[in-house]
Amino acid sequence: MAIISIASTKGGVGKTSLAFSLAKDLGYRYATNDMSVVLNKYKNARYYPKKIPLYEDTVYDFGGFDADHADEILRASDIILVPTTNDLNSIMKSLIFIKNYKEKTILVFANMIDNPNDATMIKAKIHEHFPNLAFTYLRRTKLLKNALESGMSASELYESSKHSQHLYKQAYGEYNKILKLFTTDGHYFSASQS
Ligand SMILES: Nc1ncnc2c1ncn2[C@@H]1O[C@H](COP(=O)(O)OP(=O)(O)O)[C@@H](O)[C@H]1O
Ligand SMILES: [Mg+2]
Repeated sequence: MAIISIASTKGGVGKTSLAFSLAKDLGYRYATNDMSVVLNKYKNARYYPKKIPLYEDTVYDFGGFDADHADEILRASDIILVPTTNDLNSIMKSLIFIKNYKEKTILVFANMIDNPNDATMIKAKIHEHFPNLAFTYLRRTKLLKNALESGMSASELYESSKHSQHLYKQAYGEYNKILKLFTTDGHYFSASQS
């Protein structure tokens, strides 16, 4: 049972891709204020152009970010995932966002990581301002893109063949660390310290 929000004021950082796979893997509703292909790929996906209702067991994808619109849901969320890529603008926007929600449980999710050192650097930059904030990362991978395109969650795609298991081994391990936060009894950060 959880309300999970994925939010950032920056586009193209992976919110929709991650939100879809997590929602499908958890059997949760996917709710968004931003039109996305997920609506054609997942039967439990709903688009709310105006006010988004608050539901349990939902992954909220706050793209096309509108603070007034999202604020109530963000405040009610059990956890907010903040995707960040390896560029200063993305990191800065994440820091500003986190400042507004610093009383919430937040997981910083560094996405599209080309090199583990980049993840370490992003983590250090975040921790300069918010020490001890939970942090995890996902490498640059086609896992989420291919999953969404096929209408499968990341786990379904990974499990679909030996070839997939080989191809996505590392990326899936990283994704699964995030998924496991929600499948092991609300111990949100048990697997997130990297
Ligand atoms: N870990 C990743 N590695 C490579 N590409 C990624 C990764 N995560 C997401 N992408 C790709 O980045 C693009 C933007 O992702 P999307 O989920 O639409 O971002 P947002 O919802 O934040 O705008 C998509 O083409 C998506 O497939
Ligand atoms: Mg999006």
